[in-house]
Amino acid sequence: MRVLGIETSCDETSASVVEGSGETTALRSLVILSQDVHTIFGGVVPEIASRAHLTAIVPVTERALRDAGLALAEIDAIAVTNAPGLVGALLVGVSFAKSLAYSAGKPLIGVHHMEGHLFATALEQEDAVPPYVALLVSGGHTLLLDVEAWGRYRLLGSTRDDAAGEAFDKSAKLLGLPYPGGPHLEQLAATGDPKRFRFTRPMLRRDQQPGDADYYDLSFSGLKTAVLNAVRATGDALDDEARAAIARGFQDSLIETLVEKTARAVRARGRTRVVLGGGVSGNRTLVDAMRTRMAALGATVHAPSSRLATDNAAMIARAGLFRLERGERSTAGLNAFATQPIPGLVAE
Ligand code: KG4
Ligand code: ZN
Repeated sequence: MRVLGIETSCDETSASVVEGSGETTALRSLVILSQDVHTIFGGVVPEIASRAHLTAIVPVTERALRDAGLALAEIDAIAVTNAPGLVGALLVGVSFAKSLAYSAGKPLIGVHHMEGHLFATALEQEDAVPPYVALLVSGGHTLLLDVEAWGRYRLLGSTRDDAAGEAFDKSAKLLGLPYPGGPHLEQLAATGDPKRFRFTRPMLRRDQQPGDADYYDLSFSGLKTAVLNAVRATGDALDDEARAAIARGFQDSLIETLVEKTARAVRARGRTRVVLGGGVSGNRTLVDAMRTRMAALGATVHAPSSRLATDNAAMIARAGLFRLERGERSTAGLNAFATQPIPGLVAE
């Protein structure tokens, strides 16, 4: 089966063709157009994002088909992100995918963006398949899941306030770094003194027990406030060395929390694989720390390449392919939603 994927949930206009069946799939093409305009505003401006998707969606899709060497008639189905995300942005992709499916007489499937992230790494690494513990860390979401099988997800924990990427971006802004700040902060932290600022590990205490509400949950807004306080307390002495040390303190704290909560999930669920996803999984320091900790637990870590860590339509096509193979189809009434639980959640 050949699936054309469309992704417009935030600030990337993306189209991709994925071909295959079951676990054997191949990426035929992937086009990602990132909307750099938002850097001027220091964050994504929803209406500008929608309009930019509107301008880009046709050429991006044409390019994905051309790169795959396929005509629309040779595509078997269309998959599109319909939740969660910026509604105006999602509506562009959904309306476009719906029209395309209708005019070409192809089946349509709406895909949950976070389920897409679960499939991203499997496109490049054949071992990144269930059962595994997933840590999805992006600008909008932070989810710790046990993936028992494709389509069977146990939500273990999530952030109670800021997402991991959001915490990176806000802290980076406080340190005077450009948006999106995550990669800049990682670079700055690499040169920072790890001992100068030691911030509390959020929601991480040794005496937490499985079953405690905060055993797996995460929280990053307090850490961002700690960065703000450190910046203020340093005052006029906020030179490059101090900024690097604060960045280091922030990143060490955030990473230790993510790694420990993931370790708890691996132990409790008896998993031997951890799959990372979302933009923050492009952070090498996080991936390395995760690898070291998981090796001690006998688990391997699968991180996507930076192209598939960030928002892209290949993961949407891949997740769509899974749902289509199960016989699922969306109706012509498919709509877009800002929030929606990931499908296939199983209760404790
Ligand atoms: O998944 P993504 O591309 O878009 C969302 O769905 O949000 O994630 C973007 C987020 C941004 O917050 C960005 O700063 C962060 O991922 N990010 C990083 C790194 N690369 C991207 N954060 C920390 N370290 C990085 N190397
Ligand atoms: Zn995402």
